[in-house]
Amino acid sequence: MITTGSIAEIQSLIRKYKAEGKKIGFVPTMGALHDGHLSLVNKAREKSDIVVSSIYVNPTQFNNQEDLQHYPRKTEQDKSLLGNCGCDILFLPSDEIMYADKSIISFDFGPLDKVMEGEFRPGHFSGVALIVSKLFNIVQPDFAYFGQKDLQQLSIIKTLVKDLLFNIEIVSVPIKREPHGLAMSSRNERLSEEDRKEAKIFYEALNAAKNIISEKKSTEEAKSKVQELFKNHKAELEYFEIVSDKDLLPKSENYLAPDTVLCIAGFIGNVRLIDNMYIIS
Ligand code: PAJ
Repeated sequence: MITTGSIAEIQSLIRKYKAEGKKIGFVPTMGALHDGHLSLVNKAREKSDIVVSSIYVNPTQFNNQEDLQHYPRKTEQDKSLLGNCGCDILFLPSDEIMYADKSIISFDFGPLDKVMEGEFRPGHFSGVALIVSKLFNIVQPDFAYFGQKDLQQLSIIKTLVKDLLFNIEIVSVPIKREPHGLAMSSRNERLSEEDRKEAKIFYEALNAAKNIISEKKSTEEAKSKVQELFKNHKAELEYFEIVSDKDLLPKSENYLAPDTVLCIAGFIGNVRLIDNMYIIS
């Protein structure tokens, strides 16, 4: 695996591969890699001749400075995981390279970035769109891979690609979970053993709500059940929403449809976790 932090070097490599007719698959990450990230790399290997990944903890998408400071950084371990997984090029840029001049541009995705994560993390998706646009322009991939774990991010990226005519196919990859159901996340590393057990509540709440909606078709009952489950727990619920993956707006009918997805977010101590589940899987 070639590792570089230089835009000129990665672009010259990509130019060479493209001239040979090779397809480029790209997996952007913020590092502290786990099997969820690696499932994206594995998926990328299926369709692409050359797999590029990036690790960059992007400051403009953090609306909470404490979260940015404590974000896990494990570059050496990440390099060997990516190398063993068949990644060909790792782009590892510095802040000076990605934000040489302070960016003044910002993105507005209308209703898509006002709900759920957008409501609780103002400016987050503008920062995501900014860094992903920069990375797309540098890497110029044919395919880019994003996890369903960050459902709203996936929707924002699809909109970004459509509206700005990026010539890139976005491929979504299912959520990878721990054996007891907790969605894998770099932030899980900040949880104690005890908190990890507590964190199962997010998956349990999604399953409970899914069962109630499937059997009784009642979203009100599902919402009350989720509230009730969190009442007896250390975990704190931030939101639970039943939305359509088309516009991320709450569904008011036709719940048992393939676009219906249950989204949840909350805290365990000061660690923020998100998860989601489709009503039909
Ligand atoms: P990060 O949180 O490192 O995630 C990188 C990619 O891995 C994202 O597409 C995310 O959805 C996916 N991912 C994370 N956990 C997953 C899981 N358990 N199962 C499947 N996929 C999972 O998302 C970001 O970084 C950043 O916002 C980024 C897009 C890199 C821009 O800075």
